[in-house]
Formats: sequence, structure tokens, C-alpha cells
Amino acid sequence: MSDKTYTLTSPEGKSIELPVRQPVLGQDCIEIKNVAGEFGAFTYDPGYAATGSCTSEITYIDGSAGKLLYRGYTIEDLCANSSFLEVCYLLLNGELPNQEEKTKFETCVQNHTMIHENLKNFFQGFRYDAHPMAMLLGVVGSLSSFYHDETDITDPESRNLFAARMIAKIPTIAAAAFKRNIGQPFIYPQNNLDYASNFLNMLFAVPAEEYEVNPVAAKALDVLFILHADHEQNASTSTVRLAGSAGTNPYAAIAAGIATLWGPSHGGANEAVLNQLEMIGDMSQAEKYINKAKDRNDPFRLMGFGHRVYKNFDPRAKVIRSYCHEVLNDLGINDPMLDLAMKLEETALNDDYFAEKKLYPNVDFYSGIIYKALGIPTNMFTVLFAVARTVGWVAHWQEMMADKEMRIGRPRQVYAGPEERPYVPVEKR
Ligand code: CMC
Repeated sequence: MSDKTYTLTSPEGKSIELPVRQPVLGQDCIEIKNVAGEFGAFTYDPGYAATGSCTSEITYIDGSAGKLLYRGYTIEDLCANSSFLEVCYLLLNGELPNQEEKTKFETCVQNHTMIHENLKNFFQGFRYDAHPMAMLLGVVGSLSSFYHDETDITDPESRNLFAARMIAKIPTIAAAAFKRNIGQPFIYPQNNLDYASNFLNMLFAVPAEEYEVNPVAAKALDVLFILHADHEQNASTSTVRLAGSAGTNPYAAIAAGIATLWGPSHGGANEAVLNQLEMIGDMSQAEKYINKAKDRNDPFRLMGFGHRVYKNFDPRAKVIRSYCHEVLNDLGINDPMLDLAMKLEETALNDDYFAEKKLYPNVDFYSGIIYKALGIPTNMFTVLFAVARTVGWVAHWQEMMADKEMRIGRPRQVYAGPEERPYVPVEKR
């Protein structure tokens, strides 16, 4: 808490001092929790753009400087030097692990990669063409039935076990959803492989022949996982916190996060970007679609552009943009989609509408192009986002459960319905 205060005065002249919570980094936060009690009035903030819901030590975003830090480390530094599992440890524990801690954590995650054999049967219940996000959220939700009574959310040890299980099993479930879609047998996890390589193996290996993971593909996936691992209080993380604040089974809370991530305004954007690039087809059509995006009467939006927080550039997009060329070159792929994406980006960046509204390409503008180069089908893109973001959801859930200030989340509303009125019998309506 800082020495600063803000004063809020009611129309009747009553004033109260509002204390300021000073973050380690970022803007002051005016504490309003006593406003309703003192004034009998509350605050309105649809979309919560001006509302902090918690104190967190995990991730910091500076939207105007285009900065993203996990526990103080820049995303650029982590992508260049770290690995996804090391970043998981960092997000969960607050510090980078030493060698012993790293090995112990990796072994612990590896020990939980398999899923219960009965869980595999759940996939048979889905229609052959079920969207893999629908399968992912259903099957992750069903983990709550396998680990309900033994998950004691008040016990830190039990919470750590949940964390390891969730991070270990999410790639296995994601790959099983993919195999269900294409009608191939599920492939068991291989614990001698690193996290990304194991995932690629579960996606692309078949029992009939040897499969060797391409290290360039594994490295690219690992970097994409790091970039998507956490993003502070975004819609899906806030959903996990909200669900978790009711004391629900944590696997069920993660399923709620997956449901939220699926939306095209959030994680679903990576799938939408590629569908949109395919619809635009070639550069001759780009202007038409850019004009549609600019037309206030047209709901069309250029997917992969704009962000609630980044109003200058998305640092994740910057890392991925340069990576995109490297990976495609290494894999020997010449994708006209990448050329179209680059030209679209250039045209939009030179357009007054996009400049005025500070709309820049976000992480999802490029991630799909890499996923496509790795042979991953479009409907799996958001699933990959979910695999990476699981650690962020888990870290925030862990932080919330240990927070003494934690209360059940319960926003207010401005009621705009009818006033109290008498019931009308059906014959008189
Ligand atoms: N194309 C055209 N116009 C846009 C776009 C876009 N992609 N994004 C925002 N605008 C316009 C919007 O119409 C509005 O105009 P006006 O001021 O005339 O009403 C203005 O910019 C502000 O938009 P907003 O919807 O109020 O901004 P927001 O902060 O609520 O929304 C967003 C952020 C990401 C939902 C939005 O930019 C969007 O829909 N982008 C496309 C979807 C997308 O790429 N999402 C991925 C986000 S990154 C991955 C993740 O972290 O989940």
C-alpha cells in the first residue's frame, strides 16, 4: 500500500479517501472495495479494462512498451535460452530451477504423462468429426471424476500433485483428440523425449512404423509453448480463477478455462487467422477485406490484429515473426500463406485506421503459419494454445488458493429489467 490516496466525493458531499496499491511495476491501483459499503453505490466497468481483481506475482505486461515478463524475465530472454518445462517451473515456483530442481521437476512431470485407460474410452463417445477443443474440454473436465476425493485443495502438496498431473496429461489428451479425429490409434507418451518432442510423437507417430521427431519442429513448438504459457489476467485465466474461487475441483476449473480460450476473440483467433487467410486467398483480395475490417457497419475483423493490452506491438508476435521465417526455411517450406500474411500485415500497418486504433499483429497472426508448417491441422491450433496455457492457469489457481485475501468472485450488475410487478395469470396475458 502506498502513501498516496484518491478522494471520491458523493453528490451529497460525502468524501472518502481511497488507498492506492502500488504495484512493483505498472500503474497505480485505486482500491475501491469499500466504496459500496461507504456510499451505497458501486462501480461499473464492463470488460474489466479498469479493474484489478487480484494481486499477482507471476506475469507482468506493459502494453504500451510491448513488454512481457514471466517472474521478471523477458519473454525474449526465455525463448532464446530456456525450455518450456523450465518456464513451467519458473511460473509455478517463482524462480528458475537449479540443475537438481530442474531434473526433479522434469521427472515428476514425466511420471504423470499417461492417462487412465478408462479415460481413453471417453473419446469413443464423441462424434468422429467432433472439434478437438470440444473433446479437450470434455475430457479435462472428466479428470475431475478420476481425481476428486483425493484432491484436497487446502493442502499445498495435493495442489502440487494436481499441477504436475495437469501439465503432464494435457499433451496426451490433446494428441488423443487429434488421433480420434483422424481415426488413428492413440500413441502412448515416451518419457525419454522432451515435452515438445513427446507431443509431436504422440501426434504423428503410428504403431506400424518408426517415427523420428524433427528437432527443428520440436524447438519451434517449445518456443511457441513458452510464448503462450501465461498472459496474466486474460479471459481464460480469469475464468479459471473465478471457477476456482468457488472451491471447485481444479480439473473442472481448467476445463472452464479451456472453454473460454476457445472463443475467436481469445485463443480461437489462431484458427480463425488461417481460415481467414485461406478465405482471402491472394493479395488481390486483401484491400477488399481490409476495407471490410474498417467498415463500422460490417462486423468483419482482421483476425490476428489488435489486443486489449498491447497498443504498440505484441512482443510475442515479434519473437514469432522472426522465428516463422527461420522455421519455414529450416523445414524447406515455401508457404504462399506466409507471403500473404506479410503483405496483409504491411498493408494494414500502413493504413490510417489500423494506426489510429493502435491495431498491430498479435501472437496468433503468426503462430498458425508455424503450426501449419509442422503439419498440424487448423482445428488443432487452439488446442496447442491450451496445452501451453495450462501451466499459466495452474500457476494462477495455485497463487489464488494460497492468497489470504481470496474470496469467491462475484461481480455486480446494473439492473435494467422491469420493476417489481404482480404475477399475471395465463388467461389474462
Ligand atoms: N480488425 C478491425 N478492427 C478492429 C480489430 C480488428 N482485428 N480489433 C479491434 N478493432 C477496432 C474495433 O472495431 C473498435 O473500433 P471502434 O473504436 O470504431 O469501435 C476498436 O478497434 C477497439 O476494439 P475493441 O473490440 O473495443 O478492443 P478490445 O480491446 O475490446 O478487443 C480484441 C481486443 C483482441 C478482442 C480485438 O482486437 C479483436 O477482436 N481482434 C481480433 C481477434 C484476435 O486476433 N484475437 C487474439 C488476441 S491475442 C491472443 C490471446 O491472447 O488470446
